[in-house]
Amino acid sequence: MMTFYLNNLQETEKLGKLIADCSDVGTVVCLDGDLGAGKTTLTKYIGRYLNVQETITSPTFSIVKEYEGDVRFYHMDAYRLASLEEAYEVDIERYIYSDGVFVLEWSDKIKDILPENIVSIILKTGFDIDKREVILMGRGKTFDCLARELDNYDYFRN
Ligand SMILES: Nc1ncnc2c1ncn2[C@@H]1O[C@H](COP(=O)(O)OP(=O)(O)OP(=O)(O)O)[C@@H](O)[C@H]1O
Ligand SMILES: [Mg+2]
Repeated sequence: MMTFYLNNLQETEKLGKLIADCSDVGTVVCLDGDLGAGKTTLTKYIGRYLNVQETITSPTFSIVKEYEGDVRFYHMDAYRLASLEEAYEVDIERYIYSDGVFVLEWSDKIKDILPENIVSIILKTGFDIDKREVILMGRGKTFDCLARELDNYDYFRN
């Protein structure tokens, strides 16, 4: 587990780039944290650095959206899912074991069916208006890459 701070949107963008650079086909990125913590904002930055040209918008009502970048990019918001059954109805396995990069907001809602190899990010507010605390956990290639990069370089000097 790693904890660090994003002082502003520029640092959130930097994290988005890092995640994109470490991502691969099959990467699952879980984003949790309060309403308005910055999950969708971080997702947009990840998409930007995967070269998704289309505008990424919050999939709260559609549950899941699909984009084309360097790889396929799937963005799901589980906030409105009432049960695991509903997750299976949107064919969750197609995204968990996908041919692209999958970003999942409110992953806690379906944590029981998530695989072990994920990147898990919890964003916390309650500091200066643009500051966020990041709790990074996970397992697998993409997580290892992120942890290594964050260890080796002084990305977030705060
Ligand atoms: N450092 C930061 N990182 C991310 N967002 C920030 C930061 N500073 C300010 N913000 C602002 O906080 C808001 C975050 O909204 P966003 O929709 O990304 O949150 P969310 O976690 O997806 O919310 P929801 O739970 O409703 O899906 C945006 O208006 C964004 O500009
Ligand atoms: Mg959101």
